[in-house]
Amino acid sequence: MSQPAAERTDVGSPVVEVDDLAVTFRGRKGGSARALDGVNMAIGRGEIVALVGESGCGKTTLARSILGLERPSSGEVRYLGKPLGYGGRALKAYRRHVQLVLQDPSGALNPRQSVYEAVAEGPRVHRMSNEPGRVADALARAGLRPPERFFLRYPHELSGGQRQRVVIAGALALNPDVIVADEPVSSLDASVRGEILALLLLLRQELALTLLVVTHDLGLAWNIADRIAVMYLGRVVEEGPTEQVLSAPQHPYTQALLSVVPEMKQVQPIVLTGETPDPTSIPSGCRFHPRCPAYASGEAERAGVAGDCRDRDLTVLSATGDHRAACWLVDTRASLSHVHMG
Ligand SMILES: Nc1ncnc2c1ncn2[C@@H]1O[C@H](COP(=O)(O)OP(=O)(O)O)[C@@H](O)[C@H]1O
Ligand code: SF4
Ligand SMILES: [Mg+2]
Repeated sequence: MSQPAAERTDVGSPVVEVDDLAVTFRGRKGGSARALDGVNMAIGRGEIVALVGESGCGKTTLARSILGLERPSSGEVRYLGKPLGYGGRALKAYRRHVQLVLQDPSGALNPRQSVYEAVAEGPRVHRMSNEPGRVADALARAGLRPPERFFLRYPHELSGGQRQRVVIAGALALNPDVIVADEPVSSLDASVRGEILALLLLLRQELALTLLVVTHDLGLAWNIADRIAVMYLGRVVEEGPTEQVLSAPQHPYTQALLSVVPEMKQVQPIVLTGETPDPTSIPSGCRFHPRCPAYASGEAERAGVAGDCRDRDLTVLSATGDHRAACWLVDTRASLSHVHMG
């Protein structure tokens, strides 16, 4: 088992790094879809990072790229400082350390496989010793206790929350370093969702697990993440510590997403209009400009950046740093406050 977080000396050093990553898919009409178009990210040991954004913005593609399931068209993913190898053997070795957790309704569990068989699959593939002990330990850690009582059950005999715990146990059985959870709780009831999130937090604490949680739900990110990365059309447009991003969002896109979170009762909901984002035709300048409320309302014009919004490429956010956003208006605000302070 991993050492508890407190005893580790490497807490906070990057475990997973994503460097200027691009992933392109062949579009249906012959064009190419830039699902990821220059993403930088660094995830420190023991950190929980939430990746948020509307459907289609590239979250799953980034998660799959981190797992080595998508090949970059440019850029790279590094694990403990080393670029991923894409050969079968290198990927197999890597998967012991970095595990993907999907939602059970997406077919994560085979209905004809017992709980024991489901959890033992990973250790078997990797020829790990003491299979029954590993399975029992993983189930117990995932909160299914006593574990032996679950060995011979089948998915249909379990509740939704229990099934999700079996999926998590399947990942834990390999004693991974990193778990990437893609929408881990979006189909669960609110109360069960809270229990699963509490479990993820506990596992981080007990096992110094590093977690990337993909979610379209900012409320969930608020409850669990140390840092939030907001994606739009294949790029990270805002990133920073959860508290800062959610209490003082800088990017108009984040502000709009946040305004429709039910817990945010004090703000006026901002409904985003315009075309849903399409990675086969990325707008010029700021890729959000056709839908940006600050652009549409004239705020960008008044600040003198409307032309930039339309035509001038924004630099891609770096992997590390404080709270930051890719928006011409934010740059103006920052330089204004600088002038006032100076
Ligand atoms: N295998 C694929 N082939 C073609 N296009 C894809 C493929 N996977 C994802 N895409 C496209 O890439 C974009 C990002 O998708 P995805 O990463 O699934 O976003 P999200 O998880 O944020 O909803 C979407 O426009 C989607 O249609
Ligand atoms: S750069 Fe302009 S269009 Fe883009 S988010 Fe900022 S204000 Fe809106
Ligand atoms: Mg997705």
